[in-house]
Amino acid sequence: MMVPQGVGLGFRREIARSILALEHGKPAFVELAPENWMGIGGSAGKTLSEVSEKYPIFCHGLSLSLGSPEPLDWDFLKKLKEFFLKIPIVLYSEHLSYCKCDNAHLYDLLPLSFRQESVKHVSERISQVQDFLKRQIAIENVSYYSAVEPSMDEADFLSEILNESGCNLLLDVNNVYVNGFNHHYDPKAFIEKLPLEKVVYIHMAGHQMRSDDLIIDTHGEPIVDPVYDLFEWTVQRLNPVPVLLERDFNLTDFDQILSEVHHLQHLTEKHWAGHELSV
Ligand SMILES: [Fe+2]
Repeated sequence: MMVPQGVGLGFRREIARSILALEHGKPAFVELAPENWMGIGGSAGKTLSEVSEKYPIFCHGLSLSLGSPEPLDWDFLKKLKEFFLKIPIVLYSEHLSYCKCDNAHLYDLLPLSFRQESVKHVSERISQVQDFLKRQIAIENVSYYSAVEPSMDEADFLSEILNESGCNLLLDVNNVYVNGFNHHYDPKAFIEKLPLEKVVYIHMAGHQMRSDDLIIDTHGEPIVDPVYDLFEWTVQRLNPVPVLLERDFNLTDFDQILSEVHHLQHLTEKHWAGHELSV
């Protein structure tokens, strides 16, 4: 499937009708969580058919739990494969994290230990997923609030997983900013250490400053200027890739959300005009 050029928007049910009703200024694509739309009928099923006719679809998973210690959830993967046969998608991405352990769902995307054992473990699982789905996936750098017994540098950890598993990178620029602030490192130095040729997709989102030394990655606020600045700095180091505005909360002001999509579109055109999409 052709990779759409431009800026997409997260497809949440609260703004689904507004996205589907757009005649002008439409996002280039939408991203949805397959878990929220698999195996559904009724009006939600009709909405899914409608959106897949009107927009290219990116899928961003929530529950594969790539970092879990137990075997992969093969029942879930079979359902996912069937879903992708029904709804053609451009890309499937997942978080470099875990959300299940010992059969318990932890309802959070928790970070892995930045250690060599984790590199091996998660790379094998990503390879298994790619072999089963017969497609290359992208993994996303997640935000985290406490590192778990790290024994290696976070950027090296991510880079080694990308190399060992053969998957691509969904670079969440806001997550890099949030982690850099909370853990006192330079976001640009982090990005410079990554294999940037593996970036196939970018996420942008808003966050909340909770105190002088803590930012929470909420996806509920407008993007702040320092994250836009980091985005502009980043895109100048990359070939053109699709960019997504993630907005999961505070969805009532659709015009404001759309204005952020258009601003991101303006920034990508400013830096990528005349380039061809590379993925
Ligand atoms: Fe993200």
